Amino acid sequence: MIDLSALRDNPTLSGDRVCLVPLTGEHADDYYRATQDAETRRLTGSHHSVTYEEAHEYCRSRQHQFDRLDLAILELPSERFVGELSLRDVDPDNESAAYRIALSAIEFTGRGLGKEATRLVLEYAFDRLALHRVWLEVYAFNMRAIAAYRSCGFTVEGRLRDALLWEGRRHDALIMAVLEGDFRKAISS
Ligand SMILES: CC(C)(COP(=O)(O)OP(=O)(O)OC[C@H]1O[C@@H](n2cnc3c(N)ncnc32)[C@H](O)[C@@H]1OP(=O)(O)O)[C@@H](O)C(=O)NCCC(=O)NCCS
Repeated sequence: MIDLSALRDNPTLSGDRVCLVPLTGEHADDYYRATQDAETRRLTGSHHSVTYEEAHEYCRSRQHQFDRLDLAILELPSERFVGELSLRDVDPDNESAAYRIALSAIEFTGRGLGKEATRLVLEYAFDRLALHRVWLEVYAFNMRAIAAYRSCGFTVEGRLRDALLWEGRRHDALIMAVLEGDFRKAISS
């Protein structure tokens, strides 16, 4: 049985290079800037252009959402905001949840920060929340994301054909998931 109190506990999860803290209004300006980044929007298939007010409302409202976990990713030791992630669609009956992550700008990518953040949140998801399965959707062209997820134990389970229409071209999305045992194996290797 999963432990839903883990979603109310406002955890801070610390690693070597990043630390994850609850996303709040304090991160809203950085979060808003990230939503305007053209490459991040392409990689996440974000058609909707987030307004400044929406960004602030989203960040402010996170601390009142007890059915999901929204964390800011801070680079260490500077504690600079470099992105955010969520565990959402938590399904207690099936002990599963969906995952998404976005580093804020291309300059933060490819340096191992996303992998470390994902490992930290999966550790929390499996150890503290006691989930069995975490799944996500990723566009098939996003090779860096797929590699980062694979190294945390995710495997590809399926393909959603032509799921994204971006600037006149259609792209497939992949469903990836990691089960608790896959994660334990991935982190021990
Ligand atoms: C996806 C994301 C979280 C990954 O985090 P990251 O810090 O950039 O990735 P890491 O440096 O931790 O790991 C990258 C992995 O991809 C590999 N990689 C890097 N650039 C690559 C590229 N262009 N093509 C293929 N693989 C690549 C690295 O070698 C590494 O693989 P390894 O673990 O086998 O060594 C981050 O890039 C991101 O947020 N990007 C913008 C938004 C986005 O794409 N979100 C995901 C939507 S599903």
